[in-house]
Amino acid sequence: MLFHTFSVSLVLATLTSAFPFESLFEKRQNAPNSVQNWSNDFADVNFTLGSGGSFSTTWNNRPGGNFVVGRGYRPARDMLFNYTGTFSVNGWAYLALYGWTTDPLVEYYVIEASKSLGDHNPSDNASATQYGTLQSDGATYEIWQKERINAPSIIGDHTDFQQYWSIRTSMHSGGTINTGNHFRAWEAAGLKLGKQNYMVMGIEGQQGRGSATITVGVAPTTRMPETTTSTYRSIRRTQ
Ligand SMILES: *[C@@H]1O[C@H](CO)[C@@H](O)[C@H](O)[C@H]1NC(C)=O
Ligand SMILES: *[C@@H]1O[C@H](CO)[C@@H](O)[C@H](O)[C@H]1NC(C)=O
Ligand SMILES: *[C@@H]1O[C@H](CO)[C@@H](O)[C@H](O)[C@H]1NC(C)=O
Ligand SMILES: *[C@@H]1O[C@H](CO)[C@@H](O)[C@H](O)[C@H]1NC(C)=O
Repeated sequence: MLFHTFSVSLVLATLTSAFPFESLFEKRQNAPNSVQNWSNDFADVNFTLGSGGSFSTTWNNRPGGNFVVGRGYRPARDMLFNYTGTFSVNGWAYLALYGWTTDPLVEYYVIEASKSLGDHNPSDNASATQYGTLQSDGATYEIWQKERINAPSIIGDHTDFQQYWSIRTSMHSGGTINTGNHFRAWEAAGLKLGKQNYMVMGIEGQQGRGSATITVGVAPTTRMPETTTSTYRSIRRTQ
């Protein structure tokens, strides 16, 4: 009897993998259709697209260097955003879901991993304010907001806008991000979003060097190792 049950499920498993229940339409919906490739004059970055939603980047920035590269979806939307990969840094960099809205103009980050020289949290900035936390995808994220004045944006180089961040309190580089949970938590905190533009799983690199290989649209098959995010901040404001 036990043996019989086992062989039936084995046959079912074989059938399922031979005929995956995923339509072509779903595959097209899930294939990334947007690329982010921005760098300033002090960045030294290589960025190449691979097959099946993958990309790789290596960088070695001069002081003042800054870039954001990644792949994702346009328009951004409420979805389960899967990604897997590696992220290796000697310097300052973020691995983040990165996107924009217009009216109001907002630049947003869901920071999944970050590296810095020394003990530093990505929110450590005199003009950043915390707006509570949210739970999503098996983790706690802190919600932060900061204003950017006279900064580059998707509508021009000298614009004023809000930055919203969800910062995962346990860093990992691979998983699923329920994007709608973040959009709703920001709005509930009074941090208004506008019309969704694009969102990518991106790497932002500042000073230092590093490398990353990320595949968008694929979740890791095992739970990725997590490291506790530094709670050290030289300054902290809450709302
Ligand atoms: C992400 O993975 C989950 C299950 O792991 C799946 O339900 C969802 O459809 C995937 N999202 C995309 C956009 O493929
Ligand atoms: C990114 O931009 C750089 C500089 O314009 C270019 O050389 C490179 O081919 C671009 N890479 C991708 C993947 O678009
Ligand atoms: C970028 O690629 C070129 C050509 O392979 C290589 O010479 C250079 O060292 C790379 N730069 C970085 C920062 O990885
Ligand atoms: C704080 O944020 C501003 C605006 O984004 C940035 O120019 C500045 O370098 C940041 N300061 C630190 C200490 O990270």
